[in-house]
Order: sequence, then C-alpha cells, then structure tokens
Amino acid sequence: MPPVLESTAAPQETLYTDVISGLQETPPTIPSKYLYDSRGALLFSRICELEEYYPTRTELALTRAHAPEIAERLGAQTIVTELGTGDGRKTRILLRHLQQPATYIPVDISATQLQQSARALRREFPQLQVLPLCVDYTDCWTVPCESIEGRRVFYFPGSTIGNFKPRAARRFLTRLSAMAGPDGALVIGVDLKKEPAVLQAAYNDRHGVTAAFNLNLLRRLNRECRANFDPDCFRHRAVYQPELGRIEMRLVSTCSQQVQFPTHQFHFTKGEFIVTEHSYKFQVQDFARLSEVAHWRTRSIWIDEQQHFSLWYLTTITPHDE
Ligand code: TRP
Repeated sequence: MPPVLESTAAPQETLYTDVISGLQETPPTIPSKYLYDSRGALLFSRICELEEYYPTRTELALTRAHAPEIAERLGAQTIVTELGTGDGRKTRILLRHLQQPATYIPVDISATQLQQSARALRREFPQLQVLPLCVDYTDCWTVPCESIEGRRVFYFPGSTIGNFKPRAARRFLTRLSAMAGPDGALVIGVDLKKEPAVLQAAYNDRHGVTAAFNLNLLRRLNRECRANFDPDCFRHRAVYQPELGRIEMRLVSTCSQQVQFPTHQFHFTKGEFIVTEHSYKFQVQDFARLSEVAHWRTRSIWIDEQQHFSLWYLTTITPHDE
C-alpha cells in the first residue's frame, strides 16, 4: 500500500482576520495570496498570455530549452515538490524529461485546483507517483515523504519568490533547504531587473486584464467578508520602485469614501491606496547572495537572450561543504 499523503482538509480560513489586520497597516495591505480565487486564477492565466507580460513565456522557453539538462542534473529517483500549481505547462515539460520512477508532490492552497491537475497528470504520466498536498506553503508545513526513498527537489517557478519581502524570502528559502536535507535540490524561476518601461508595461497591460485581476480582490472581499467596496471607486496601478527593486501593485481610491465590514469600517481619501502585492526583481548577484545565505549553492543559471528572466539549479549546502 502506498502511503496516503493526500490531504483534503482546507487550509485554515483566516481571510477575514488577515484582511482586517492588513487594512489597519500603513499603507493598508492585503496579502497577495487572496488574489487567487477561481475568477482570480482565471484572470491570472489570461495575464500570462499577454504580450506585455514577458515572465511566463520567457520562463517557458527557458524550461523547454534546458529541461533535458535539468533532468539530468536532478538524476534518478527524485521526489519533486512543486510550490503552487499554475497551468502546469512548465511542470509537464520538466516531468516529461524526469527519469522514472519519480514522485511528484504538487502543493497548493486550492483543493479543487490540486485535484484537477493531479487527475490530469496521473493520466498523462502513468508511471509517475502523484501525491497532491493541500496546504498554504507560506505557513508552517512539511513534505510528507519521510517514507519515500529519493532525492528531495523543490520546484518553484513563476518568480513567486519575488512576491515575498526580502527577509521572508530568506527565511522561506532557508526552510526549503532544511526540508530538502543533504543532497537536496532547488529549481527556481527568478525575474530579473530591467528597464522600468518593460516592467511597467508588464503590470499595466493595455487590455486591462491586470486591472480586472487586481480589482477582483475587492469583489471577493464583498462576497466572502460581507464588505461593501465599490470596485468602480478604485483603480489598479502598478508602480516600479527602483530604489527597492520592486513593482508595487495598488488599488487607488478615486474619491473620499467609507468601506464597511461587519465589524470594522475603513476610510479612504482620494488617492489613498491599498497594496495588494510586491513583485521584487533581482540582479543575478542579488539572488546568488540571497540563496547562499539561505544555504543553497548555485550550480547553474540559465538566462534568455534579452536577459529578462533566469532559471536556477541549486543544491543544498551541507555542513560537510562548508
Ligand atoms: N506573481 C505575479 C508577478 O509578480 C503576479 C502578478 C502579475 C500580479 N500581475 C499582477 C499581482 C497584478 C497583482 C496585480 O508577476
């Protein structure tokens, strides 16, 4: 009997308290993971198709070009844990090249998304052991693979590491290194610093898909927190802050207004904004340093010709190496 690793328990419901405490901060902030309800996930997949949004297609091309080498570096008998399930296109490329037998553990906050993608992957890769895990990977969690033999590999595409604040990114990568253990590996996508105009365009597309995605958060709060945001009284704006090396996603109040929650109310003056996400961009040296303090050794870096995006292969630094 294979171990039963499937968790059907939904991650703890903390949306309401997270939102209230976030809105009390200066500036008011809402954790970006709440952007991804089912409509949010759909809109995000449309963002990934936009001409202006270079990260997805660039990382996809890098993955296509280098998957054989990555798979070779990872070797035989791997336990690949992916953080977040996107549309699975990059994952499929990697899995197709992976030496079998291998185990694949997709981790996601959404049980529905997990079940759907696990079912499809099992059909496409009958040899692969697929063990979905429903947790919020930004919380405290462990990979339930103690009983499985194999090299522990984390796969973290999409430059989601850029959505963590620098200190949280370091803590998170350090924890991954500890979980991967000696001989562990990490394959991670990292978005690079570039001309601000390219960045601005990627987060303020002409067709307004990004705006719809960001504003969808307010609709979700109206529905799930019984708030009364008027989405027409906020507009999406993404600002590149070069001194911080990040894009800041905002919902800007277009008038002076009051927003009601069952237990709290918030006032927004015209021009005041809610921060919904940060997307940090890195220089190669920045990420090399960050990963090293988090106990990862850089083995390979693949970068596209325009130097927009990077894909990294790292291995854990064990006391033996130091
Ligand atoms: N994680 C994505 C990124 O940093 C998410 C994203 C793209 C996003 N466009 C957005 C988040 C607009 C909020 C608003 O690129």
